[in-house]
Amino acid sequence: MKKLLVVFALLTAPALGWANEGACGQVAKCDPVKVDLNDKPSLQRGARLFMNYCLSCHSASYMRYNRLGQDLGISEELVEKNLLFATDKVGDLMSAVMPKADARAWFGTAPPDLTLEARARGPEWIYTYLRSFYRDDKSPSGWNNTVFPNVAMPHVLYEWQGSQRAVFKKNDKGMAHFEKFEVEKPGTMPPKEFDQSMRDLTNFMVYLAEPAKLERYKIGVYVIIFLAVFFVLAYLLKKEYWKDIH
Ligand code: HEC
Repeated sequence: MKKLLVVFALLTAPALGWANEGACGQVAKCDPVKVDLNDKPSLQRGARLFMNYCLSCHSASYMRYNRLGQDLGISEELVEKNLLFATDKVGDLMSAVMPKADARAWFGTAPPDLTLEARARGPEWIYTYLRSFYRDDKSPSGWNNTVFPNVAMPHVLYEWQGSQRAVFKKNDKGMAHFEKFEVEKPGTMPPKEFDQSMRDLTNFMVYLAEPAKLERYKIGVYVIIFLAVFFVLAYLLKKEYWKDIH
C-alpha cells in the first residue's frame, strides 16, 4: 500500500506543476518567478501592461483580443475600453502599432513577435530580462541588458524602475561576470512593486504562449480527482477479491 501511494504521488507530481528553469546565458543568472495561470487578476494586470507598453513595437499576432477577453474573464466592453490601443475591432489579431520597416530603421532590428516568447525563452528568462536593463553609454539606445548583451530594445519602463548600473567582475579566465546592480536614480515605483508588475507581465506572457494551458489545468484537476476516487475503489475491490485466499 505504501509503495503504491509513492508511485501515485510521483505520477501526479508533474501535473501539479514543477517549475522549469530557463537558461540565462553565461554572464548572469536567472531569477525565479512564480507563474500562476489561475491568478486571473495578475493575468489581467499583465495584459494591460502588455497592451500599453509592449504592443507599440511588438506583435502577438497569434492572439485575438476577444479570445483574450474570454480567457481572462474580461467583458468585450471592457476589452474595447481598456485594451484596444492598436486597433478598433475586438476580433483583430494583436499586431504591433509600429510598422516593421520603421522599427528596423530605428533599432537596426525588428522587434520580434512575442506570442511564443515564453515558450522559447522560459518565464525565468523573461522575468529577469525585464528587470535587468542598465545604463550603458556605449550602446546606441543608452541601455544594455545583463541577460541579453547589446540588446537593441530600450528600457521602456525606466520611469518606473529608475536607472541602474551593472557591476561586472572578471573571473580567473578573464571573462566578465555580472555581480550586482547599483541604483543610479530610483524610479517612481518601489522595487518590490516593480518586480510584482514584471511578474504579472511574465505571467501574462506564459498564458499568451499557451492559452490552452488554462483549459488543461481545469481538466487536469478533474482527472486527478477521478484517479484518486478510482484508486480507492480499485483498492477496496482488490481487498474484497483476496480476502478468502490466504
Ligand atoms: C520601442 C520599441 C520597443 C518596445 C516598446 C518594447 N520592445 Fe521589446 N524589443 C524591441 C526590440 C527592437 C527588440 C530586439 C532586440 C534585439 O534583437 O537586439 C526587443 C526584444 C525583446 C525581447 C527579446 C526577444 C528575443 O530575442 O528573445 C523581449 C522578451 C521583449 N523585447 C519584451 C518586451 C516587453 C515585455 C515589452 C513591454 C514592456 C517590450 N518588449 C517593449 C523593441 C521594443
